[in-house]
Amino acid sequence: MRTDHARPVRLADYRPSDWLIDKVDLDIALHPSATKVRARLSMRPNPAADGPAPLRLDGDELSLSSISIDGASLPSEAYAATPDNLTIAQPPHGAFQLELETTINPSANTQLMGLYRSNGTYCTQCEAEGFRRITYFLDRPDVMAVYTTRIEADRADVPVLLANGNLVETGTLPGEKHFAVWHDPHPKPAYLFALVGGNLGCVDDSFTTMSGRKVALKIYVERGKEDRCAYAMDSLKRSLRWDEEAFGREYDLDIFMIVAVSDFNMGAMENKGLNVFNDKYVLASSDTATDGDFASIEAIIAHEYFHNWTGNRITCRDWFQLCLKEGLTVFRDQEFTSDQRSRPVKRISDVRLLRGHQFVEDAGPLAHPVRPEIYHEINNFYTATVYEKGAEVVRMIKTLLGSDAFRKGMDLYFERHDGEAATIEQFVQCFADVSGKDFTQFMRWYSQAGTPEVTANGKYDAATKTYRLDLTQSLAPTPGQKIKEPMVIPLALGLVGRDGKDATLHAKGNTRIEHGVAILSSPSASIEFSGISEEPVLSINRAFSAPIRLVTNLSAADLQHLAAHDSDPFNRWQALQTFALRILIANVTALRAGKNTNSDNGLMDALAAILADKTLEPAFVAQALTPPSEADIAREIGSDVDPDAIFAARGHLRRKISECLGAELLALYERFAVREPYSPDSVSAGRRALKNVCLDLLAVNGQADGIARVFEQYKSADNMTDRLAGLATLSFHDKPLRGTAFEDFYQRYSSDPLIVDKWLMLQAAIPDPITLDRVVALTAHPAFAVTNPNRVRSLIGTFAQGNPTQFNRADGAGYEFVADYVLKLNGTNPQVAARLMTAFKSWRALESTRQAHAEKAIRRVAAGENLSADVKDIAERALAGG
Ligand code: PHE
Ligand code: ZN
Repeated sequence: MRTDHARPVRLADYRPSDWLIDKVDLDIALHPSATKVRARLSMRPNPAADGPAPLRLDGDELSLSSISIDGASLPSEAYAATPDNLTIAQPPHGAFQLELETTINPSANTQLMGLYRSNGTYCTQCEAEGFRRITYFLDRPDVMAVYTTRIEADRADVPVLLANGNLVETGTLPGEKHFAVWHDPHPKPAYLFALVGGNLGCVDDSFTTMSGRKVALKIYVERGKEDRCAYAMDSLKRSLRWDEEAFGREYDLDIFMIVAVSDFNMGAMENKGLNVFNDKYVLASSDTATDGDFASIEAIIAHEYFHNWTGNRITCRDWFQLCLKEGLTVFRDQEFTSDQRSRPVKRISDVRLLRGHQFVEDAGPLAHPVRPEIYHEINNFYTATVYEKGAEVVRMIKTLLGSDAFRKGMDLYFERHDGEAATIEQFVQCFADVSGKDFTQFMRWYSQAGTPEVTANGKYDAATKTYRLDLTQSLAPTPGQKIKEPMVIPLALGLVGRDGKDATLHAKGNTRIEHGVAILSSPSASIEFSGISEEPVLSINRAFSAPIRLVTNLSAADLQHLAAHDSDPFNRWQALQTFALRILIANVTALRAGKNTNSDNGLMDALAAILADKTLEPAFVAQALTPPSEADIAREIGSDVDPDAIFAARGHLRRKISECLGAELLALYERFAVREPYSPDSVSAGRRALKNVCLDLLAVNGQADGIARVFEQYKSADNMTDRLAGLATLSFHDKPLRGTAFEDFYQRYSSDPLIVDKWLMLQAAIPDPITLDRVVALTAHPAFAVTNPNRVRSLIGTFAQGNPTQFNRADGAGYEFVADYVLKLNGTNPQVAARLMTAFKSWRALESTRQAHAEKAIRRVAAGENLSADVKDIAERALAGG
């Protein structure tokens, strides 16, 4: 296991590699416990570096069996090899060939980094620093090489042999063995290397690119699961087409392969021509996957495919630039989904995710800039900030420039940097060059952590028919950043009249307004809109044009007006959320003071109007009926947080909705409960989403008829979405039918691990005091496996991150359990352990009793023996500052 050596790493210390590797020839003989890796590296001094230098290659738990230079084996005094490094003090002055042989044990690799086995299949994971677990290498993304990979294995056990690029040769060998040779003509960093070997089934298809080239498409899965690949394949073809149409990007090899494996630390990996996926993001059929699963599969297939241009053709100079590929690729997959499905609904769910995860991260001790400047362990920076906020920053560039100039900037980026390892500065410069705009101040979005707060207060003057808007911005200190400078904040806005129409904007003041977007770049600014004939309602940050926390002086009546009439659908939804949040926070305060909760009919009237509006998409209405998450409410409250009070207030509000709108909810439920053959498309999924939100609200008070309706749906459902929705609602009600349904579900699906994951998740999320005992008991259940990240995330991860009241039990037992589990996983899979540890990211905002318990648990982890760099980093950052 890797501990904390040679760290931290700082962006400011970047310098080019002394050596380059132009060509890599690998010869890998797969064996369960002793896989031989022979690597021939074509080395040359980097002309951009400062002259002759020792060669120091990265390793991780490696052992070297032979080494030679230009065919001559190296005397032992000429090099030093440790598990972590291979150093040649005096390498040749010019180019040379370095030949290395290492032996690795894939079956013992529980970290799932480098070469490992998943249900017997050999597979690799090399991002960020996994290639160094296969052979010694310059394992940094700015060292790009052309790879040829020969793989050799038992013919019967490992019939399928895959690597990046195009297949150039296969053959049989004595001793029942065979081999395959793959060649990838595109230079790439080592983190994009992949190899797969196994007895896999394959689904075939093809795609003709815009220039008429035919590409073979292949999805490899464990045998027997081939019939669950159709949606993934369809998503892949739509992704290939979309990138041609939306960005002019064509695929560049003869074959594109996806391999689904059961043991994977993350969602999926964009290895050149050979994407490796967590099988949960490939396998789907109507009776095994929910609408949410189908949507995730579509988005992740697209995301990994889009990396071919944003990540692979143009990669990152160093890991500080991670958002260059991830933020941009998330932006691209969001746009894809918006075009394939509903743009407003996609925006709403992305903003929910951003607020519930990224804003929460930004508000706690793990806050970091979109482009960090220092890290101890890069694995811990695959975060909501780098991915989701990184995508928001790209979106703001588009908002500031408009679609046409944005596309020109992207074209320039692809043209200028194709084949390179680039930086954020180079990316942003392309937009500066096509638009003539200055992005110097805008770069603060990459360097300053935290969520800016914007206040927007408007006042109408009937006498002069002017509307004055006062704006301010502020940004609270975050770890390591005490002083913050003002940001460039694009605020899409409109002044909504009584008839619901936007007024024409004639503005004066010190703030620029370009195509309906006010650009706030100073700490405060005012805008005066003239010729406004009646008092309007301000709609600002439309479509969530900037990732900010917004405070306005909008009244309840204003919010109701926006919810009913705003031409921007996002802000219709937002008005309801703002309304609900105000009530929720007031009620949390009331509950904690032992007072009665207040029920506001204005919100109920606004929701009634939404339910009555036949023009709205069902998926939108479903979003409108769902209040902010507990995590989001907690973040808004900010300090002295009591998760029980938040849970209670949210429950009160949901019961209130059910009481006030029961008849309408029932009518909607019945309207959309009509049986039709299942189809995963977004319109059908939206109808099911609304139906299931209604089902849930109709049962929220626990009355017998509501519960019976849920159980009936559970039993008679003909698809996983409806069945799981039934089970999820039942899980929140302590009734005999809950136990019946959970038992039935397990009996039905016990042979399918991905479905058993859903069963584990729902049980881990139950907001009852007995849940911790149940979770502990489930860790001993035969369906659970501590070695499989999907099982761990479903059970332990859901408890820690998806069950605020029970993780944050007032007696601290939830924290102790999670801390124990982090320490247990630390030795076997540090990445998964560290991810679990991030459940403590909001501990400082808790009320004092819980805070003390949480601190004790974090300190116990920080003091653990043999702590991995991954876990140590999270524990120490969680404790720092404050
Ligand atoms: N690069 C992957 C993605 O976002 C994520 C990943 C990171 C996967 C590290 C594995 C390891 O598409
Ligand atoms: Zn990615």
